[in-house]
Amino acid sequence: MVLLGDGSGLAGSGRRPKVPAPTPWAGLASGTVTWCYDPRQSYEHNLAHGPSGPMAGPGVPVPEAPPRHAFLGEMLHSPFGIAAGPLLDSAYTTAALRHGFDIAAYKTVRSAAHASHPFPNTLAVHVRGRLEADRAEPLLADSELEHATSISNSFGVPSQDPDAWQPDMAQAVAAAGDGQLLLASFQGTRQRSGGMAAYTADHAATARLVAETGARVLEMNLSCPNEGTGALLCFDTAAVARIAGAVKDAIGDLPLVLKLAYFRDDAALRAFVEATAGIVDGYAAINTLPARLVDRDGGPALPGEGREVAGVCGDAIRWAGLEMTQRLARHREELGQAFAIVGVGGVLDASHYASYRAAGADAVMCATGAMLDAGLGRSVRALDS
Ligand SMILES: Cc1cc2nc3c(=O)[nH]c(=O)nc-3n(C[C@H](O)[C@H](O)[C@H](O)COP(=O)(O)O)c2cc1C
Repeated sequence: MVLLGDGSGLAGSGRRPKVPAPTPWAGLASGTVTWCYDPRQSYEHNLAHGPSGPMAGPGVPVPEAPPRHAFLGEMLHSPFGIAAGPLLDSAYTTAALRHGFDIAAYKTVRSAAHASHPFPNTLAVHVRGRLEADRAEPLLADSELEHATSISNSFGVPSQDPDAWQPDMAQAVAAAGDGQLLLASFQGTRQRSGGMAAYTADHAATARLVAETGARVLEMNLSCPNEGTGALLCFDTAAVARIAGAVKDAIGDLPLVLKLAYFRDDAALRAFVEATAGIVDGYAAINTLPARLVDRDGGPALPGEGREVAGVCGDAIRWAGLEMTQRLARHREELGQAFAIVGVGGVLDASHYASYRAAGADAVMCATGAMLDAGLGRSVRALDS
């Protein structure tokens, strides 16, 4: 893939932080980038200047036919879009919607400002075929991103302060046209004191802040492997049921989707669904698969404590997202439930979208695929029309 220019074409919300002039990463090809999120630059730089590449250019025509795909109370042109992550603020979500991605997820927000892990965050991960969920051997990760189809995602879920993201998210919601949806992703933050009660209260408070922006569907991230907090929240079924109940109390009738990691144990997934399906409206799976990433000398590929293991996304994890979709669909049928399933993981072209739909997904989302190809939303619309 040719690396093409930093578009920086779209105006931001006016509340974007100011960052110093970019320092291109010497390890990556110089020149310009086709990706909407420029992996050669810091998170802060991307937030201030993105989106990059074709996504910053003119959008695609709005479909003439009325939207005909039902999803969580919405009618969409196509039940396809960009998962939480690459779209850092309203400049990104608006660009994505205009480029034919009919669902745009606003990157996960928190109840207070939270810094990103230091640069680099996104490396090429060299894995042949599929990445196994229990892989013990390390994987080579480096800056050779030109032909990458599997990448690392090590950010630590940064967030601006609600004073900044709330008005910006409101703009993002308003920019979703007829047949489109802004999906608002959020997560709770562990508090210094107060234990589980404070953690639960933070989830509910953050959800309330999100609901105040006018967002019509919320997604709660329970599955970030980059936080250094040990076990993922989605594997603690009792805690999730309590937290989801508190969040639903806070947001009323607004649909709530839970973002899950890959569950190796199907009985655990079944128990999770049984405990939460009566509370929430859908599940999105998967986030990423964790792996130990090393450089050519065998040292950690990503600098800093707690980053030896990072989330891997893209081509190598598609099998896991598809398998989770199939299993969730089976549990839904066997339990007589009607929750929505959002299939995520390794969707790089329209045929992958079709595979997820065949597996039982009501909607499909991609992160890596959209970073690589700003035309993917339009391709899926063409398939679906
Ligand atoms: C750059 C980047 C940032 C991400 N940040 C988040 C995030 O903030 N919240 C979240 O729930 N998932 C996040 N993810 C995970 C994606 O939503 C998605 O679940 C994962 O990348 C698998 O999809 P893919 O194979 O299409 O990339 C991020 C992914 C990428 C690539």
